[in-house]
Amino acid sequence: MYRLTEEQKKRVSDLLSQMTLEEKIGQMNQISPSIVGGFDVSFPELIEMVGDGRISHDEFARIMNTVQRDYREDDIRAGRVGSMMIQDPVKMNELQKIAVEESRLGIPLISGLDVIHGFRSVYPIAIAEAGAFDTDLFERTAHMAAKESRTQGVAWHFAPMIDVARDSRWGRVSEGPGEDPYLASEFARAKIHGLQGDMSSHENYVAACTKHYVAYGACESGRDYNTTSMAKSQLHNVYLPPFKAAMEAGAATAMASFNDLNGVPCTVNAYTLRKILKETYGLKGFVVSDANAIRECVTHGIAQDDMDAGIQAAKAGLDMDMGTEIYSTYLPQAVAEHKVSMEVIDEAVERILSVKMWLGLFDHPYITEETMHRYDELPKAHTDLALEAARKSVVLLKNEGNILPLKKSQKISLVGTLADMKEEIIGAWAMSWQQKDCVTILDGLKNAGADVSYYPCGGPEGDLNLDEIAAAGNDGDVIVAVVGELVSMSGEAASKADITLSGRQREMLERLLSYKKPVVAVLMNGRPLALSWESENVPAIVEGWHLGIQMGNAIADILLGNYNPTGKLAASFPYVTGQCPLYYNHPSTGRPGSGSKFTSRYLDAPFEALYPFGYGLSYTAFEYSEMKVEENEDALEIHVKVANTGSVSGTETVQLYMQDVTASIVRPVKELKGFAKVALAAGETADVVLTLPKNKMGFYDDDMNYCLENGKFNIFVGGNSRECLKTQVDVEF
Ligand code: GLC
Repeated sequence: MYRLTEEQKKRVSDLLSQMTLEEKIGQMNQISPSIVGGFDVSFPELIEMVGDGRISHDEFARIMNTVQRDYREDDIRAGRVGSMMIQDPVKMNELQKIAVEESRLGIPLISGLDVIHGFRSVYPIAIAEAGAFDTDLFERTAHMAAKESRTQGVAWHFAPMIDVARDSRWGRVSEGPGEDPYLASEFARAKIHGLQGDMSSHENYVAACTKHYVAYGACESGRDYNTTSMAKSQLHNVYLPPFKAAMEAGAATAMASFNDLNGVPCTVNAYTLRKILKETYGLKGFVVSDANAIRECVTHGIAQDDMDAGIQAAKAGLDMDMGTEIYSTYLPQAVAEHKVSMEVIDEAVERILSVKMWLGLFDHPYITEETMHRYDELPKAHTDLALEAARKSVVLLKNEGNILPLKKSQKISLVGTLADMKEEIIGAWAMSWQQKDCVTILDGLKNAGADVSYYPCGGPEGDLNLDEIAAAGNDGDVIVAVVGELVSMSGEAASKADITLSGRQREMLERLLSYKKPVVAVLMNGRPLALSWESENVPAIVEGWHLGIQMGNAIADILLGNYNPTGKLAASFPYVTGQCPLYYNHPSTGRPGSGSKFTSRYLDAPFEALYPFGYGLSYTAFEYSEMKVEENEDALEIHVKVANTGSVSGTETVQLYMQDVTASIVRPVKELKGFAKVALAAGETADVVLTLPKNKMGFYDDDMNYCLENGKFNIFVGGNSRECLKTQVDVEF
């Protein structure tokens, strides 16, 4: 838990009292090692060249690795830098030595990095892991990431990303825990505990940074960085809950988001930053801007110039400037001109120093040789966890005729370039992975002893190799086609106006189907896709997401029946892109969609999800019965029998939803309020009890009042958000 001892608090206040204004503002300044020289072309041109394919990613990486960087040693020595973005432990020690031993007060640097889903052991992207509905897993992967990154000098993760997202055109759906506030809140809480909880050694925990604060996922049209606007009740009921949960769990820091919210960019938004995050939720640590975001307030049109942007941000409660150096350039003048008070500066610096103190950076500023090399060879426990997380994140979407699991005797034609691309299984924001750790789907099938032949044939970009398709179609008893997205097609700045399978992948599937053999589509993607055609024509579909370094072994385990899929969807899949934004927890409207014309529907597409939130099949079957609700003073107890009616053991995620039938503002037709994993042998039945605390049955109004209103509530329980048992209760609060 993030908390300072009295002794630590005193050390911070003593230090603060000695600092000059320039040293204080230096702590509010975060920089990345800027790039100088070494290019035949300008850096922006180089970025364009890799973006438009004039140079490959490998060529770009080679250039970047050889180019000279400016590590700003003199500024560090003068106490003008508080934080660096760096992941080289040797270089970090060098710069830390300057900060600690050569600056006047010896304040250590804090190194931050985007460790979103694992460090060296890369786990499934968040949209996938959230689908495991397993808070213990969420915590353990975060804890492992903290331990691995601390050995490389990274003490601050720009994670967890906990933006609720309902529009899969937005590429950053991949980075967060999906469309539901409750699941996102449970994910957030678990991640904070995992990142910050093990204080047995300063090498076992890091500072979390909950992002992007706030409502970034509501960007209009799913277009990244776009404007967001909503009723305050919507902000409090949908987008803030994960941040509230994270603050309750003691998150040390937060990152303000790029978007303007109801007309005020979150970078300079005193309502969200001061009133809610600091004063109401009680953030004890500090707030950092997103990259370059303070300068972008001029572009937003809320600030006249850089200095105005810096003044507004500081006064709004933004404590650290990521990447613009506007604070270090203009705040001294702003303070001298009484445009920013010394109290504002002191508050920000005290928050920053407190996090560094809590992290143990003052007492343990350097990374020892032993620590640095601790995980040179990834321990088995690390790869085992990566495999466990990958297996639990896979979702079985369709299995017509029980094609799956495959029989060991079946010869497999494995198709699709994605099936053998190590750099594509790790997903967006994987920064520290190593080729030798990565297991592709081809590797995984070979590791499992499958009789597999590989035919690249085609992928998310480019042409099809028709000869290879013919060979694949004629060769195997069964065809496994890996289709989906490159890592670059989701994540930041990767919004798409069409989320069907890209390139000629659908044509590839169509051609493969013409060989009249069983075809299994394995999806490798960073967002829900519009799979109308695939759901009609492909008999088996496995949602594999980007599962991290153990993807291949996990997919092989699922395809070959060594692991019975347990994953569920944390976000709805549409039939067609035009349905976006799409989510299960929507208001009823006065004319809920139906087959009748004058209802909330489309003329040219279904209005419901193709695959709804919480959906995922198993190789066995589960039946729900005998639901009943018992009420006590503080909670509802929902009882239900769940039977494994199939022939193999399996694990079901039992989901609890509620609907406030009539309230002073319209409420969603369903809201997730609990879940439980239940492992059942074939033929076994379990009595499952889920508890719904009455004080969790309310909602926020526009004035941030939490309202518990007497009346009828529908209670649902089932294996996804659509197929549920239902009962109605009258509740008096
Ligand atoms: C990026 C992202 C943010 C990340 C930051 C630092 O623009 O928006 O998620 O943490 O910059 O890399």
